[in-house]
Amino acid sequence: MGRLEGKVALISGAARGQGEAEARLFANEGAKVVFGDILDVEGEKVEAEINETGGEAKYIHLDVTNESEWETAVKESVNSYGKLDILVNNAGISIGKNVEETTLEEWDLVQDVNSKGVFLGTKAAIPAMRESGGGSIVNISSIAGLVGIASAPYVASKGAVRLLTKSTAVQYGPENIRCNSVHPGFIETEMIRGILSNSEERAKRLAITPLGIFASAHDIALAVLFLASDESRYMTGSELVIDGGITAQ
Ligand SMILES: NC(=O)c1ccc[n+]([C@@H]2O[C@H](COP(=O)([O-])OP(=O)(O)OC[C@H]3O[C@@H](n4cnc5c(N)ncnc54)[C@H](O)[C@@H]3O)[C@@H](O)[C@H]2O)c1
Repeated sequence: MGRLEGKVALISGAARGQGEAEARLFANEGAKVVFGDILDVEGEKVEAEINETGGEAKYIHLDVTNESEWETAVKESVNSYGKLDILVNNAGISIGKNVEETTLEEWDLVQDVNSKGVFLGTKAAIPAMRESGGGSIVNISSIAGLVGIASAPYVASKGAVRLLTKSTAVQYGPENIRCNSVHPGFIETEMIRGILSNSEERAKRLAITPLGIFASAHDIALAVLFLASDESRYMTGSELVIDGGITAQ
């Protein structure tokens, strides 16, 4: 029996990268998966592959900054699969600039996707989870939500996700709705592929990672699976750091 047998999951930003890895892993573990993104061509391809290999998944267009698209996504989960048990707020963007370099438009864009997107997803999912008798929300923050790096709008947005997670956990724990945050270090996905293709930048990042390697999207998906499943039923408001030891120093 799969670790998510009987569960219905909604994942944002899942046409590629970590979200895609989570959609594939969750479907493998028996969940029915609704996943959204703004990259429709890529999303539809992932949907077809999951369904062709025995999983059950549905791709929908979901811009996480749009409240009505979130409402539609939750409705899609409930109408297609009868309920909603799991939400992974994974969609995110990064602008690696310091305070003085960041324009107001860039600041607003990063907060909109990374922070407002998590708020809107959580707000849309909670009534459906209440109907299901509980649920698990997993918010993808970053080590940049724990410590400061010179990427001002990103750090601020991921710090907001960390504490929105705890606020959600405290408010909805009595209704059996759990909420935890995940804090990845350097993961080899499109988000940082440009930086990692520069050998000097790559070496700098490896040098501050005690395990001496980067993680794959699947490494993070395995931790998200644990938080999404009933195996973590006594965990809420907690932070799962998956960073090869970077923040242990
Ligand atoms: N890659 C890393 O090193 C790293 C480290 C720490 C945290 N993270 C976080 O992990 C999460 C997943 O990122 P990833 O590494 O898979 O990178 P990625 O760029 O491959 O994936 C991000 C996904 O979010 C989607 N997205 C962007 N804006 C969106 C919007 N408005 N609405 C819906 N979807 C949108 C993108 O289209 C993409 O599919 C992000 O929240 C990111 O901040 C990444």
